[in-house]
Amino acid sequence: MKNNKFLNKILHGDCVEILKKISENSIDLVITSPPYDNLRSYKGYKFEFEKIAELLFKVISPGGIVVWVVGDATINGSETGTSFKQALFFQKIGFNLHDTMIFKKQNPIPQIYRKRYSNEFEYMFVFSKGTVKTHNPIMVDSLHAGLKLGSTTYKNYSKNDQKRTKFANPVKNKKIKGNIWQYVVGKKKEDQEAKNHSAPFPCKLAEDHILSWTKKGDVVLDPMCGSGTTCRMAKVLNRKFIGIDISKEYVKMSEKRLRNLESNQKKLFDNY
Ligand SMILES: C[S@@+](CC[C@H](N)C(=O)[O-])C[C@H]1O[C@@H](n2cnc3c(N)ncnc32)[C@H](O)[C@@H]1O
Repeated sequence: MKNNKFLNKILHGDCVEILKKISENSIDLVITSPPYDNLRSYKGYKFEFEKIAELLFKVISPGGIVVWVVGDATINGSETGTSFKQALFFQKIGFNLHDTMIFKKQNPIPQIYRKRYSNEFEYMFVFSKGTVKTHNPIMVDSLHAGLKLGSTTYKNYSKNDQKRTKFANPVKNKKIKGNIWQYVVGKKKEDQEAKNHSAPFPCKLAEDHILSWTKKGDVVLDPMCGSGTTCRMAKVLNRKFIGIDISKEYVKMSEKRLRNLESNQKKLFDNY
């Protein structure tokens, strides 16, 4: 089987080198968050964005998805725009920019006033390699559930005003969730396990993407997995995973989170 020796492991190393060894078209979903700005180094490590993006295109399967969670630093009074430049590069190398989603923080870090509003979101760029193969949309309650819409008059410029005779169906109880997703950051028990990492994203964010874009048994990759949030949630949701991080300390943190999960497994599986 493809990638057998990498599956369900956290690998220590530069993702550029490890991604070269992962089989082509073998990954169903990538969820990752790169080091934001200071792009040339992170704790002295290399971060070669363009090589990483190209290797992600190689390993992702046709119809697979890459979720790239990123924000911009403000340097010398200007946001860097790095997130947009990265998104356009992904497009240039063949990905579709499938959706520009927003990760809204319900408890953003208060900002010292610098003539701008508090920053309370990051981008979640959703890229696809061709037509998306799996989408299990999250559904939410409709605001106007059950409302019956009457006939409407509309303008047809070639034939003057026209009356729409057919009554629309009543508004359904559920509708597809919007693309701004809100989370409390760092407060939940499962997120507290990652408190020694500088920038973990919430477990629920990883969960929502995994459920949206994969089926049970699919392979989820996080090439810069930090505290292991993506891998933890892939395991909880019965997906296979591959995690990579360049920091030995973070690899150990991820492995510890996975071990904690195993010891609490029964309790957690009961909740899903
Ligand atoms: C923003 S953090 C990811 C946090 C993660 N999403 C979580 O929930 O904990 C970025 C991570 O990228 C890792 N990193 C930076 N350069 C890397 C590289 N070339 N290869 C692999 N990991 C790298 C850093 O060690 C850091 O843990």
